[in-house]
Amino acid sequence: MALAVRVKNLWKSFRSGWFWGGRNEVLRGIDLDIEEGRIFGILGPNGAGKTTLLSILSTLLLPDRGQIQVLGMDVVKRGNRIRERINISSGNANFLWSLTVKENLTFYAMLYGLGGTNRKKRVEEAIALFELGNYERTPFDKLSTGMKQRLALAKSMLNRPEILFLDEPTVGLDPQVSLKIRDQIADIQRERDITIVLSTHNMAEAEYLCDRIAFLKSGEILTLGTAHELKRSVRLGDIITVHYKGDLRSIRLEKLPGVIDFSLSDGRCEFVVDSATRRMSAILQGLWGAGIAVKEVKTSETNLEEVFLEFAK
Ligand SMILES: Nc1ncnc2c1ncn2[C@@H]1O[C@H](COP(=O)(O)OP(=O)(O)O)[C@@H](O)[C@H]1O
Ligand SMILES: [Mg+2]
Repeated sequence: MALAVRVKNLWKSFRSGWFWGGRNEVLRGIDLDIEEGRIFGILGPNGAGKTTLLSILSTLLLPDRGQIQVLGMDVVKRGNRIRERINISSGNANFLWSLTVKENLTFYAMLYGLGGTNRKKRVEEAIALFELGNYERTPFDKLSTGMKQRLALAKSMLNRPEILFLDEPTVGLDPQVSLKIRDQIADIQRERDITIVLSTHNMAEAEYLCDRIAFLKSGEILTLGTAHELKRSVRLGDIITVHYKGDLRSIRLEKLPGVIDFSLSDGRCEFVVDSATRRMSAILQGLWGAGIAVKEVKTSETNLEEVFLEFAK
């Protein structure tokens, strides 16, 4: 499998403190391989270093140390070549306020060196891709936050990038709009077969979109894997708590569908499952089938906050 991004021992600090005498180490020895044609997630709380990492991968910032290759090219030596083949879109994107959606896209297409019919074609393609047709003539400052975000994504497809870096693409959007944008991101990855690297502080988003996820905290990758592996390593998942009567020893609880982990205490079993709604009936049937009397069932979701607590231990 070819690698879209290869990072070895990446360090980045910013000057800070009194008269910038101090240094704030923001990325501390990051190692990362990202395969081509996948959606890779960088998940972490605010201040973890997500934007800094994406900025370095997209050649907007230089690293202090480390070997960083994007599409097989060194980010320090070959930034210009890399920039032609990637793009980045930020959740807080800003455009020229008085220009319309189409004018803004045309402006960016010019910056990308596209001319004539090709420019026109790419702008129309980007508009179609993110269903911006009805808003073509709307000035940027009249767009809703969700539409601004779709414009930012459309802009980032103008040069037909091989890698798309998305910095918190649904930040600040209400759930309905976020879902729509997530679906569009997934569609684009499928249709164009590009690599997408996205940052988020939303576990559900990472899980929905990403094949693999790196959990970043205080500039370090604490764990890396599929959503399932991540949840298992930190017991992150939905919780089904069952109060029961009977003997559970005859059941292989770990074999019940969707079970990531479980713990037992007298009369009470706590399952960590990938999805409570999806697994509830199968788990209860498994228990009933073994003659267990279920007295009470509760479900709850683990959230990212709990992961942070888990890691803080
Ligand atoms: N240009 C900068 N100058 C100084 N400090 C910065 C700069 N950019 C980011 N930082 C600091 O680096 C840390 C990580 O920031 P950032 O990469 O934006 O995290 P995230 O995107 O995960 O919220 C924060 O402590 C932030 O204050
Ligand atoms: Mg950020």
